[in-house]
Amino acid sequence: MADSSGLRKEATTAAAAVEPGSAVTEAAFKAACGRYATGVSIVTGLGPDGRKEGLTVNSFTSLSLDPPLVLFCLDKQAGSFEAFAAVERFAVNVLSEDQADVSTHFAKPGVRDKFAGVAHDVDADGLPMLSAALARIACDVEARHEGGDHIILVGRVRRIDLGDEAGRPLVYFRGRYGKFI
Ligand SMILES: Cc1cc2nc3c(=O)[nH]c(=O)nc-3n(C[C@H](O)[C@H](O)[C@H](O)COP(=O)(O)O)c2cc1C
Repeated sequence: MADSSGLRKEATTAAAAVEPGSAVTEAAFKAACGRYATGVSIVTGLGPDGRKEGLTVNSFTSLSLDPPLVLFCLDKQAGSFEAFAAVERFAVNVLSEDQADVSTHFAKPGVRDKFAGVAHDVDADGLPMLSAALARIACDVEARHEGGDHIILVGRVRRIDLGDEAGRPLVYFRGRYGKFI
């Protein structure tokens, strides 16, 4: 639509209507980061005491193609922190849209054996991986970096298993699960 100056007005969309200048409070930080939709993965590993470990993460991302590197961020307060800080290998199990219950299960703190009742297999080196996943990415730990109240674990990809080609991802947005349209 043209205004009195004869210029076409910019269409105003809800997405463009941003209130400027929130203070960097914890709530604002969480609200802003929560607007970035992610997938959901279960990171699995074998702890130094031989215990199978796993936790839900949405901080997984690819890092480098050559060499093939991925990363995830691990909360220093997580019960499995000591175990994952020490592992030499980990696997990223990307969840599909029907696995919200698996995400909830692996996000529970204080569970001694999260793998009980969860279908999984174990490779020759004892690395546990979920039997059902959209994709599984097994890595050797390449680096560990400090990141405030988290550490960043960088993995060099050693093995890739692809799940159902028609599978759809579990999505996490503003603290809730959703589906990919
Ligand atoms: C959707 C979702 C994403 C999460 N992402 C992360 C993450 O990226 N890093 C992390 O350390 N914890 C993350 N958490 C929290 C852990 O899953 C949770 O603290 C869990 O209790 C850790 O398991 P543990 O106590 O056995 O270590 C996430 C939880 C949910 C539900």
